[in-house]
Amino acid sequence: MKPTDLRGILQYIPLFRNRPFVISLDGSVLDHKNFGNVLLDIAVLRSLNIKVILVHGAAAQISQLSKKSGVSATDLWGSGKTDEATLEMAIQAANLNTHRILAGLTACGVHAAQSNAIRANPAGLIKSLDLLNTGKIHRIESVCLNSMLDQGITPVMPPLGFNAEGNTLRVNSDNVAIRVAEKLNAEKIVFMTASNGLYRRQEFIRELSVEELNELLDSEVELEPKGILSKARCAAEACRSGIPRVHIINGCIDEALLTEIYSNEGIGTLIYSDEYQQIRKAELKDTNSILRLIRNSVENEELISRERLDIEKQIDCFHLIEIDGNPVGCVALIIYEEEQIGEVACLYVDAPHANQGIGQKLLGFINRTSKERGLKRLMALSTQAFSYFENKGGFRQGEQEELPKDKREQYVRSGRNSRIMIKDL
Ligand SMILES: CC(C)(COP(=O)(O)OP(=O)(O)OC[C@H]1O[C@@H](n2cnc3c(N)ncnc32)[C@H](O)[C@@H]1OP(=O)(O)O)[C@@H](O)C(=O)NCCC(=O)NCCS
Repeated sequence: MKPTDLRGILQYIPLFRNRPFVISLDGSVLDHKNFGNVLLDIAVLRSLNIKVILVHGAAAQISQLSKKSGVSATDLWGSGKTDEATLEMAIQAANLNTHRILAGLTACGVHAAQSNAIRANPAGLIKSLDLLNTGKIHRIESVCLNSMLDQGITPVMPPLGFNAEGNTLRVNSDNVAIRVAEKLNAEKIVFMTASNGLYRRQEFIRELSVEELNELLDSEVELEPKGILSKARCAAEACRSGIPRVHIINGCIDEALLTEIYSNEGIGTLIYSDEYQQIRKAELKDTNSILRLIRNSVENEELISRERLDIEKQIDCFHLIEIDGNPVGCVALIIYEEEQIGEVACLYVDAPHANQGIGQKLLGFINRTSKERGLKRLMALSTQAFSYFENKGGFRQGEQEELPKDKREQYVRSGRNSRIMIKDL
């Protein structure tokens, strides 16, 4: 990690201090050689006062036990039928995994303990199949978890629940993660799997809103890999129940956890509920951010050069789009009152966030605001993004006569020969 990265991290430290993060480790991650590094990253989170709750699975280990003993498992995931033999293997595998995590965290200097905070009842009959020893979580004992967290102890939660009589039931670890996150009002859930995240028709999805995810899940377009679709469904469920962010990342990659949490670009797939990306009005104190954002584009002559004073004078026209409170794009709407025309100016999206629909979000926002203001037309002058305005924003090429009078004179004087793009509202 470069020392300069530390500056980027600083912004997140107050944001996440004392906030609960639920980290859910697939059994396969525990078997990977990177497992020790995952625990080191968790130790870093703890040192930054993040309240970590570690949930883990056991499917990979149940499968291994089953192969070794020749006893077939009726279900690996805690969502199908768990007969007595499978429950035995699940208890053995889950406890072994908890033990390995506790041992590893000890080596990293992290205080941790197992809890009995998962209360479950038999899942019963689903589509007339008796699920036997599979449990449905009915309560998470937050008193138990909170008192551990308040003492600086990291709870480690195997995929096993107990009913009122103390009988053990096999539960699904992803469901444990969701229920715990809901109960503790967690900041985020991080699912650590053996896959990079979600792909749509072989194209990696870096981030998407829960609405977009629901559409993809409903329409069954080629979301890949199939093995983590259940995680995607869990992510959607978690966001719906109020968890702002759910990450699916590859636990087999070194530093994946820290990269995902402490960099804007991340490494896996982020599913967010609405408040994650926010468009807001710029204020005077944002002038530096705007200058910094557009610097490269001005040098490349994509955007017209603006002095600090110009931006300060027009600051009320500017809007910023933020990710985690960091500006990653901007746009200005300059209104020509006489003609009731709005100029879309200074549209910019920071390169690491390009091609994620942020530019279209900003244009959509300008469109809505302009309609609300009763404007008749939008215009933009562009040297290198005219086809973007045309193809993605619904603009058409226009003529000088369609510009507001003041702008027309300025256009001729500038000699930039930008294309005139028009959208009638
Ligand atoms: C133009 C710009 C705002 C687009 O932002 P973005 O968030 O990356 O774009 P989106 O995610 O909304 O859209 C991506 C799509 O637009 C296309 N696109 C991006 N920039 C483009 C450009 N300059 N010309 C044509 N198409 C462009 C991408 O190829 C992609 O196409 P696809 O969906 O068919 O794959 C951004 O590239 C930028 O800041 N450019 C420099 C500044 C600039 O020229 N601003 C406009 C002048 S006012």
